[in-house]
Amino acid sequence: MSDLLIVLTVLAASAVGLWAWRRWHYPSFWLVIGYPLMAISIRASWRKVALGCNLTKKRQRWWFTTVPGLIESTGVVRVRRRFQRVSVDTKPFMWLPKPTRYGWRVTLHMLEGQIPADYADAAERLAHSWGVHAVRVSSPRPGRVILTATTRDPLSRVERFPISSELLKVTVGRLETGAPWVIDFRTVPHWMNAGATQSGKSNLANALVQGLAPQPVALVGFDLKGGVEFTPYSPRLSALATTRRECVGLLEDLEELMADRMTLCRTAGARNIWQLPEDRQPVPVVVLVDELAELYLMADKSEKDEVAKTSTALLRVAQLGRAFGIYLFCCGQRIGSDLGPGVTALRAQCSGRICHRVNDPETATMTLGDLDPAALDSARAIPAETPGVAIVASQDGQWYRARSFYVSEQAAESAAHTYADRAPSWADITGADYSELLGTIPEPRKG
Ligand SMILES: Nc1ncnc2c1ncn2[C@@H]1O[C@H](COP(=O)(O)OP(=O)(O)O)[C@@H](O)[C@H]1O
Ligand SMILES: [Mg+2]
Repeated sequence: MSDLLIVLTVLAASAVGLWAWRRWHYPSFWLVIGYPLMAISIRASWRKVALGCNLTKKRQRWWFTTVPGLIESTGVVRVRRRFQRVSVDTKPFMWLPKPTRYGWRVTLHMLEGQIPADYADAAERLAHSWGVHAVRVSSPRPGRVILTATTRDPLSRVERFPISSELLKVTVGRLETGAPWVIDFRTVPHWMNAGATQSGKSNLANALVQGLAPQPVALVGFDLKGGVEFTPYSPRLSALATTRRECVGLLEDLEELMADRMTLCRTAGARNIWQLPEDRQPVPVVVLVDELAELYLMADKSEKDEVAKTSTALLRVAQLGRAFGIYLFCCGQRIGSDLGPGVTALRAQCSGRICHRVNDPETATMTLGDLDPAALDSARAIPAETPGVAIVASQDGQWYRARSFYVSEQAAESAAHTYADRAPSWADITGADYSELLGTIPEPRKG
């Protein structure tokens, strides 16, 4: 009796111990206990799972099979063994799963006739069969697929990364893979940031303001919602347009600035401002637009010309800005072709796409374009409880689920005040006299 009591006490104590371990230090618990159990069960159940998810193929194999032989006089059937060809279900070969920060990853050899899309189609089935949060499919080389399973949503809580100190690079959040989500204007110059209200668009703009404030860049804001979003950051902004008139003026300034820099580069024989000598490079300008649609909507006919001007100027900035250090970050609830042809053309120039939670499928389609349909499904499945979660696509053709760090308006505002002295004045930027500068640039080398 007392033995049983001891056994029960030990079992209860170890259960509590395991629970506490899992609760207080999940990563080590996962590595030591959770992952090995998971790996064994995945390997053991792979045949059944692959069969259930239609990932197996029929193959002919030589095999010993039992076939009924003669019926003996006693009425008992004599069973004979025979070596013959039979058809069997073959499962894709699976390597040993490897633990990752949020789950595990495993490489499979695809069977003949299979493509990675077959596995992507089965991803949801696999996730349910394995009881994990999600399964993502990638194919690093022909014939292989890597399935990455996440046991829980890594984006339900994201820890901050240290601030990036590189020019025009801002770490704004974390990708689903655990890697930092970096907005790098030098590699992807223009961005579209779409999402319904309360989806986290402004939060991302705050993160950009906070990240760019200490850097030697000029920030310019377009905020036609009366300036409520960007006015608090005005100490760090070099220019801010809050009415349509100001908007037209500011865009004209930007076009002139671009023309000046174009002349500068041409004279110096440089293709873009980054090829100029380092101490001669003009200051990069990041243009933040809140509620893009406001730039295109007109209250009445009288605004038609201004809207047309705005649209053309913005498009020119997008087309030529990259080489001359002018970068766009456009936020909007809807970025649809119904706003006018200018929007579609602008969208084509923005290779960086961010789609937060959206209300209508068209906005997701418009923002993410012709990406993998799974990206669109994923965008539409973003729940309202996790603002800041978005689907991010940039030039590498891959898409990721990501979540921005929470940056309150106060935090961004305080950064704007702290670094107010780093805001170059707009007059200095637009009125920069390049003639002196041109004299100091050596003639481009011939040959
Ligand atoms: N990454 C995030 N993490 C946590 N909370 C967030 C995040 N992004 C946004 N939020 C919350 O969601 C609310 C709405 O975000 P906001 O950026 O104002 O949305 P939008 O500009 O799209 O309307 C904010 O008040 C903020 O509290
Ligand atoms: Mg907002």
